[in-house]
Amino acid sequence: MQREYITDKFPNLSKGPVDVSMYHDPEFYEREKEAIFSSSWLMAGRVEQIPNNGDYFVRTVPTFRMSLIVIRGKDNQIRIFQNACRHRGNAICLEKQGNTPALVCKFHGWAYDLTGRLKAIPDAGGMFDLDKSSLGLVEVRSAVWNGFIFFNLDEDAPSLEQYLGDIGPALTGYPFDTGTSRFQIACSLNSNWKAVIDSFSETYHVPTLHRYSIAETLAGGNNKFGHLVDAVHYGYHRTASVWGNNDYQPKPFQKIAYEFGGDAGASITGGQGDTARLTLPRGVNPSRSSNWGIDVNVIFPNLVIVIGPGSYFCHQMWPVGAGKTEWEMTGFWQPAQTAAQRIVQEYFMVELRDTVMEDLNTLERLQCNIENGVVKEYLYHDHEVALRFHHHVVREAVERFSGAPV
Ligand code: FES
Ligand SMILES: [Fe+2]
Repeated sequence: MQREYITDKFPNLSKGPVDVSMYHDPEFYEREKEAIFSSSWLMAGRVEQIPNNGDYFVRTVPTFRMSLIVIRGKDNQIRIFQNACRHRGNAICLEKQGNTPALVCKFHGWAYDLTGRLKAIPDAGGMFDLDKSSLGLVEVRSAVWNGFIFFNLDEDAPSLEQYLGDIGPALTGYPFDTGTSRFQIACSLNSNWKAVIDSFSETYHVPTLHRYSIAETLAGGNNKFGHLVDAVHYGYHRTASVWGNNDYQPKPFQKIAYEFGGDAGASITGGQGDTARLTLPRGVNPSRSSNWGIDVNVIFPNLVIVIGPGSYFCHQMWPVGAGKTEWEMTGFWQPAQTAAQRIVQEYFMVELRDTVMEDLNTLERLQCNIENGVVKEYLYHDHEVALRFHHHVVREAVERFSGAPV
């Protein structure tokens, strides 16, 4: 019988080998920064991090060595400012998060209100030709989608709604807002940012790389190679829908965790949560498979939202060089109602962390072998179609910006 390829859904993608230079070429990296990161909507954090007026958090943007203040004003508006005083550039907020009635620089005491207006200058008479009205904090464009706060460094970029296109409404309705309990893990990797995304975007590796962790939850039964359930592309964004093993037998501790964890403990590493009660938006489990495990959504360029039954988590990859990336993973749980649920969450957090470490473990070896020139092209499997797609849209974005083939 003729095999059906998921790659055939996307006739714009080749099936041939893919040149790896965009994974290590410093010049290409500079072009990506300019063409992609300088004008894309990038995720800063979640609205639940700043529920009260005066709440703020600091978002570092390693790609541009930039620090941003994300703050909810007294008028309840969320704004984003450059974390840089207009006097001599000191960072105004030094703590990662907090609540403040005003933004006061701790160097010479210039003070700004929560809309960024410069309100007070110590010994102002000693300054020359001062126009306070033009010396507010520099505001960065921001917009919110489903509780995710995005920013864009390009004043002329299209709106966030236009940027997201069809994936925006497709995922709207998933209960992102219930995950108010967060955890975060981060590290620096000697790897290209796209390769870090790649490592979370295909399931071909699941039976082998994850043989001691999630191989039996996302592969097995009649899908021993972990074939994708579906792949959907929305402009530059995408969803890979991953199979889930309904016959998975939880490990002994996982059984206990399910018993005590309830919804608060739903996890991708230990089998299926109760999805039947969730009303999923059309973009989640888009083919409505009865064997649905998780969806890996990539909001171009660097936000991965992994949606599972009852919980979700995000990866963000911030390139700092052709072969260097700052990676962050943020998980969102429903708040634990009991001590047992809290312990269960901790257990699943460790399971997830260890599984993700298996993914990250390969990256520096891959990078080494493309940087030393031994490996010149990648051969993508049908179920690595997401990698082929990402490669394609990155090239297209850079070409579109520069107006010439790359
Ligand atoms: S740098 Fe902020 S008050 Fe001087
Ligand atoms: Fe993996």
